[in-house]
Amino acid sequence: MTLMSQSGPGERPPPARTTTARTYLMCPPTYFDVRYSINEWMDPAEPVDTALAQHQWQSLVDTYRRLGHRVHLVDAVPGLPDMVFVTDSGLVVDGVALGARYRSEHRAPEAEHVLHWFGEHALKRPTRPEFVNEGEGDLLVVGDIICAGTGFRTDERAHAEVEQHFGRRVVTLRLVDPRYYHLNTALGVIDDHTIAYLPSAFDEGSRATLQSLFPDAILADESDTEWLGLNLVSDGANVVMAAQAHSLAAQLRERGYRPIPVDLSEFLKSGGGIKCCTMELRGWVDPEEPR
Ligand code: ARG
Repeated sequence: MTLMSQSGPGERPPPARTTTARTYLMCPPTYFDVRYSINEWMDPAEPVDTALAQHQWQSLVDTYRRLGHRVHLVDAVPGLPDMVFVTDSGLVVDGVALGARYRSEHRAPEAEHVLHWFGEHALKRPTRPEFVNEGEGDLLVVGDIICAGTGFRTDERAHAEVEQHFGRRVVTLRLVDPRYYHLNTALGVIDDHTIAYLPSAFDEGSRATLQSLFPDAILADESDTEWLGLNLVSDGANVVMAAQAHSLAAQLRERGYRPIPVDLSEFLKSGGGIKCCTMELRGWVDPEEPR
């Protein structure tokens, strides 16, 4: 589907953007809570409204389905309050899956459940990595390359493992601000050539790398990232993103993308947003689906 956008008289219209249908894996927030603190956003003393969380998460699922994307579900597991952030549990490219290895004991068992799901659903080479690797929390596919974060969660040695497993070029990026502890809190993938990021979340070398790889990138500011606005999911034209990230939304609109606001405020209490709840199953064809 092609999205045409409007422009005022005398202005050059932004380019038309093209969507492709995606397949996502999500996990219902049945047991979602903040019971421990492993990042700066989490305060176990602050109560979570579970009914509201369930409602917000369902609106995200409904949004994807309305946009024509498929959503598969992995069962939530009692005692794993962060499992709703399923994107951290692996990476899937070309139907090939790499599992996760969590830094925190609290989240460690999540990886096994998702790896099991990969195996049961005919993903190719589902593998448990050797080094700490928090899946799409730190590994973001941009066209042919994989941008890989390190500094807080994913071990830099995992980057070589990722490169080998997928046969794709991996670009290492170092995160320096503890509020943006996963790459997907500091960088959002808009399409195969376009990213948005928060420069101050990266060290100097990584800023230079980003600048040379993506000279036309959208630069976000903290008014966006304090709502985890970069923790977004784009299909190439529709950008599902935090409802509160107005300045980022305006920049996207100017370039011909369509921001689709979703409010996940309850999940912000755990340091998670839209992308955290959404793993993309790239190149995977559901063997159960009628053809
Ligand atoms: N409470 C979770 C953690 O700290 C949130 C994870 C959100 N995921 C993400 N990719 N940012 O691990």
